[in-house]
Amino acid sequence: GGGHEFVVVANRLPVDEVTGEDGQHRWERSPGGLVSALQPVVRQRGGAWVGWTGSAGEAPEPFDIDGMRLRPVPLSAEEVDQYYEGQSNATIWPLFHDLVEQPTHRRDWRRAYEAVNRRFARAAADAAAPDATVWVHDYQLLLVPAMLRELRPDVRIGFFLHIPFPPVELFMQLPRRRELLTGLLGADLVGFQGALAAQNFLRLTRLLAGLEPKDDRVEVDGRTVVARAFPISIDVAEVDQLTADPAVQERARQLRTELGGDRRLLLGVDRLDYTKGIEQRLEAYHDLLADGEISNDDVVLVQVATPSRQRITQYQQLRERVEREVGRTTGEFGDVGRAPVHYLFQSFGRAELVALYLAADVMLVTPLRDGMNLVAKEFVAARRDEQGALVLSEFTGAAAELDDAFLVNAHDTDDIKRGILEALNADPQDLAARMRHMREQVRAHDIDYWARDFLGVLGVPGAPPEARE
Ligand code: UDP
Ligand code: G6P
Repeated sequence: GGGHEFVVVANRLPVDEVTGEDGQHRWERSPGGLVSALQPVVRQRGGAWVGWTGSAGEAPEPFDIDGMRLRPVPLSAEEVDQYYEGQSNATIWPLFHDLVEQPTHRRDWRRAYEAVNRRFARAAADAAAPDATVWVHDYQLLLVPAMLRELRPDVRIGFFLHIPFPPVELFMQLPRRRELLTGLLGADLVGFQGALAAQNFLRLTRLLAGLEPKDDRVEVDGRTVVARAFPISIDVAEVDQLTADPAVQERARQLRTELGGDRRLLLGVDRLDYTKGIEQRLEAYHDLLADGEISNDDVVLVQVATPSRQRITQYQQLRERVEREVGRTTGEFGDVGRAPVHYLFQSFGRAELVALYLAADVMLVTPLRDGMNLVAKEFVAARRDEQGALVLSEFTGAAAELDDAFLVNAHDTDDIKRGILEALNADPQDLAARMRHMREQVRAHDIDYWARDFLGVLGVPGAPPEARE
């Protein structure tokens, strides 16, 4: 039954159903920044979460986790191919990230995308109490706001896009672009990671729908749709708790010792995705070793590359290129018992990640394009000691807030090299001043601030925790 005052709708549930080697089903935390950010928001408000379990076939009955009501939406194996891996991740994802890979356009994918979006809209309509607030998330569900409005004109509809919104010229390349825009315009409030994305969207309403946007709003069928930037953030309290944990601190010391005590530690933490600039980063590191600017005795790189979307060709090819580059660097510059790169194609829990953040001297965040990048904010939040340097791509949303980082053009290997060297050679006082500023920024704008800001503009009074069911 429905009856929730607060409903979140996202392609993924916060937990992922995985089948172990023994054939047993288990629940694991889902990958990616969307889940990291939304989980504390929904947990705190006790709402319902409509989403997919990550595996094909029948969906389990609704169930409770951590004070959240999860309402699984089923996807068939064909829909996983066409809606998730196809239209969402091989068409919209690369196009919205400025074409860092070539998107594929297919009619059957678009059809599946529409059918699945309709299923999500129905599931949201079923979950929502009269006059409830429904908050729809990300590029997999662009059509849901308008579909939901048709089913439930009484509910307040928010939409937030976690990835960049492309310039008008790129959006115009999408087949059936008009439907996608109309889908979004079904919301009362459309939120973006940055001001540029919101501007791109408003400009598109003029060009594609002949509307007349004014400031941050546009009138559609006698309704007002507001479009604004709400830079997303992290659960600072969770990171605080982990950095204060003696076991995590001990693990950080242990990591340093195991990596060779006196070596400076460079760290990368990303989903293995072609938007993340992992290849460019590895190439810069290789070239610094080759130039003799750094040496395997003094420096070591740990690159966590979490498995992601592994059935999509571009992701398989990326993995091969990355692993070849790791092998090349290790082969050329490694010593027995002392590797220049530790490459981890694995997913880690929060405690291990925070231990890595604490152990690092230089955090490398070099995406070619990224809506926000939460790893950068997590690193900053973890560095209570005000030590450590952040090398950050200008092409992340995070760069707008963390301008005390060592900003680099991630498309330019020479500039990444410059950034790494500056970070390695900076004096500790300079690093502390930079880190202090960045910490102030992140602590003042945590995930709670983000949710209250968005829900406040959407008109949810005080965005009160739900206590009705
Ligand atoms: N993350 C994790 N385990 C890992 C690697 C990453 O829990 O092994 C988390 C990381 O802490 C962050 C999120 O995944 O909260 C990644 O978010 P980000 O915005 O950096 O990138 P996205 O994956 O959403 O593109
Ligand atoms: C990014 C997207 C999310 C997505 C996540 C993980 O953060 O913005 O919508 O959930 O990546 O990707 P996946 O395809 O595994 O859900």
